Amino acid sequence: MLNWNRSSLRARTTLATGAVAALVCIGFSVLFLLFAGSKETADAQARATAGWARVLPISKPGQLPAVLPDGNDGPIQVVDTWARVVAATPELVGKPPMAIFPPTPSDRDVRTQRTLCPPAGLKGCMTVVSIKIYTRPEGVGLIDVAVPVVPWYGSSTMLLLAIGVSVLITTMMAVGVFRAVGKTLAPVDAIRTELAEITATGLDRRVPVPRKDEEIRLLAETANATLDRLEHAYQQLRRFTSDASHDLRSPLAAMRAQLEEARMYPQDTDWPKMTDAVLAGVDRLQAIVTDLLTLDRLDANAPLTCEPTDLGQLVGAELDRRTPRVRVVKDLHRGVVIDCDRLRITRLLTNLLDNAERHATSQITVTVRAGPPRADGATATLEVIDDGAGIAAEHWEKVFERFIRLDASRNRDAGGTGLGLAIARQIAHAHQGTMTIQDSERGARFVLRLPQRDPL
Ligand SMILES: Nc1ncnc2c1ncn2[C@@H]1O[C@H](COP(=O)(O)OP(=O)(O)O)[C@@H](O)[C@H]1O
Ligand SMILES: [Mg+2]
Repeated sequence: MLNWNRSSLRARTTLATGAVAALVCIGFSVLFLLFAGSKETADAQARATAGWARVLPISKPGQLPAVLPDGNDGPIQVVDTWARVVAATPELVGKPPMAIFPPTPSDRDVRTQRTLCPPAGLKGCMTVVSIKIYTRPEGVGLIDVAVPVVPWYGSSTMLLLAIGVSVLITTMMAVGVFRAVGKTLAPVDAIRTELAEITATGLDRRVPVPRKDEEIRLLAETANATLDRLEHAYQQLRRFTSDASHDLRSPLAAMRAQLEEARMYPQDTDWPKMTDAVLAGVDRLQAIVTDLLTLDRLDANAPLTCEPTDLGQLVGAELDRRTPRVRVVKDLHRGVVIDCDRLRITRLLTNLLDNAERHATSQITVTVRAGPPRADGATATLEVIDDGAGIAAEHWEKVFERFIRLDASRNRDAGGTGLGLAIARQIAHAHQGTMTIQDSERGARFVLRLPQRDPL
């Protein structure tokens, strides 16, 4: 349920719509009431004119009765040249003039009016309309007709009608918008609720994706894509942590067993041999920890110290430094120049060569050449090929994962740390390159591609 607080979108939209609707209604009501008021005023004036027209024919001297017949136009008085009441409708008989106008009728406009509360002899507020008449022989006289006062809004009925309709329309608009916004935001609320539960329980759940409402559907899909990535990253991290712990635990357990045995039977222990075995375990732990630190630095995108380097020369120098167990065939083109962190590329090469040496039957081939060209420029290619058992195509991607060893069951401890190829690929990526395994006639063929720069 959405809260009715100040920051609630639903509340704010409803209030804003209500305010706009109220303003529009007030505007229209004022216009309507002004119109109604002017119509009522015109009606009142028409009644005064009608009264005047009724009395005019009988206003000749001698014909004028002292009591005028009652009509539905209002109280009437006929006033002579000397401002004396000479005739009146029954309610005003014997009463003084309803209103005092300028001293003599001849000084005045044909039609004048005054609003009095009340006019003399009457009750309540009324407008006395005074219209000149010409009589012989006296001259100018007046017919005064009292009509009700018309407020600017016409009548209270009109005012109530306008207020009632305005309140109704404003309320309907506000309720309509409140419901519509509530309906629109319901999927957002569902997403929020689900996200809250995901936070509390696990990353395997996904937020509901509404079928309508394009924007909210995109929001839900994006949230789900983020959750996918989070879950994947979290699982990877868990697997990595468990693999790392396992790999660190095995040498530790072996070392512990050796040390305990030596302490129990000190006389029967071949100390130099035992020390060598423990040192081998320490070496292994050190290798794993060093590799983990290297990967951590690569993961954190630590800056590379890049220099223009002739790849053929770099590889040649590294091969010369090594004393390989098997024959190494070199095919190193010169002039293939890349921008690279030499230490890191050497590390990558060492990892590939260590693997190749371990798996080769009799020969390793190392090649460096230019190309093939890519859309974004020329490339440099390094290949390390051995003539061993090779790697099945379905494992070509898998071997680059951390702590993956295909030959694990055979000689887990004799091999490397299981991190060599993961490090090699990370180094390739850090140089905007690729590290893959490709088809070969025999054995495994590791291919590194890096962007080439102009020759030195
Ligand atoms: N040249 C190769 N021939 C066959 N298998 C290989 C070769 N290089 C790597 N592998 C497989 O890939 C796995 C991962 O290699 P790597 O990440 O370097 O770990 P490690 O060498 O420590 O085992 C190896 O355990 C091995 O099973
Ligand atoms: Mg290795």
